[in-house]
Amino acid sequence: MSQLRFDGKVVVITGAGNGLGKEYALFFGKRGAKVVVNDLGGSMKGTGASSSAADKVVEEIKAAGGMAVANYDSVEFGERVIDTAIKTFGKIDILINNAGILRDVSFEKMKDEDWDLIYRVHLKGTYSCTKAAWPYMREQKYGRIINTSSASGVYGVFGQTNYCAAKMGIHGLTLALAREGLKRNILVNSICPVAASRLTETVMSKELLSNLKPEYVVPLVAVLGHEESKETGAIYELGAGYISKLRWQRNQGYFFDTPFTPEDVRDKWEQVAGFGDTVYYPQTSSEIFEIFFNKEDFIKQQKEGKTTTGQAQQS
Ligand code: NAI
Repeated sequence: MSQLRFDGKVVVITGAGNGLGKEYALFFGKRGAKVVVNDLGGSMKGTGASSSAADKVVEEIKAAGGMAVANYDSVEFGERVIDTAIKTFGKIDILINNAGILRDVSFEKMKDEDWDLIYRVHLKGTYSCTKAAWPYMREQKYGRIINTSSASGVYGVFGQTNYCAAKMGIHGLTLALAREGLKRNILVNSICPVAASRLTETVMSKELLSNLKPEYVVPLVAVLGHEESKETGAIYELGAGYISKLRWQRNQGYFFDTPFTPEDVRDKWEQVAGFGDTVYYPQTSSEIFEIFFNKEDFIKQQKEGKTTTGQAQQS
């Protein structure tokens, strides 16, 4: 069985001084890639800075025979991060937007600073590094971008309004970028990892953490980052060795005869808001227009109690 190799590829990994990013960096270094190890080296709450976290990972990659260089800039300054790749290795092929911090606090007690800092590191940081890498990837007609979202953003978690908003924003960025990058072979995906790290060590039990090794997140990242991959615009949940893909689901919906009133909506609430046996998996923002433009068919089938029209799959 052939090994997935990354010889000749340049990979930038943000927040690679600890946790998941460090595991990615060590892996790519071993598999032949030239690695930019970016890390600001601050606390998990986003305060302070130090070069030691990135330096240690670079040393480890080099000691194992790999090629790596450190970058200590905050991901908010993506141009500086990507410049390190260009100046040192001449290009950028793979970008793993991974840097992250937490400022958990209930919405009621949240300060603007908690909101802004989370936004700046996660969503703005992902934007900034991607924006700087994008022209190079377009020019060479090749790129693999892996953005780090979170189940927190997908489902919502008490005390993490700032983090949830940023993490779901990151997936919105992924979805649109995947469309813009497709013609130039730039593939963009999101992951929602679960792993033992300083971000989770205080909120999960020791037993649980022992099953959540960061290295279990690496294989999917390697597959999505590889030139053989065709996946784009996807989002995965993974951890402990389990990997699964998420997608949107739409219920059958209800088409009202127009004009219609709030009372009509109230009286058809089960059809509007409930999920029965028929569900759809829309993939583009334009699919709903097929329903809009097939109003008469839809209403006819609706009256007959049949399934609706539209291209979305049913299962
Ligand atoms: P970690 O705290 O071990 O590593 C994050 C790294 O990012 C740190 O080394 C930190 O110095 C660096 N960093 C923070 N702000 C930075 C900035 N402005 N510029 C450059 N580097 C910066 O955390 P972990 O768990 O490895 O998290 C990695 C990513 O995965 C984060 O985006 C996190 O939100 C996400 N994530 C992690 C989960 C988990 O279970 N560990 C769950 C869901 C998402």
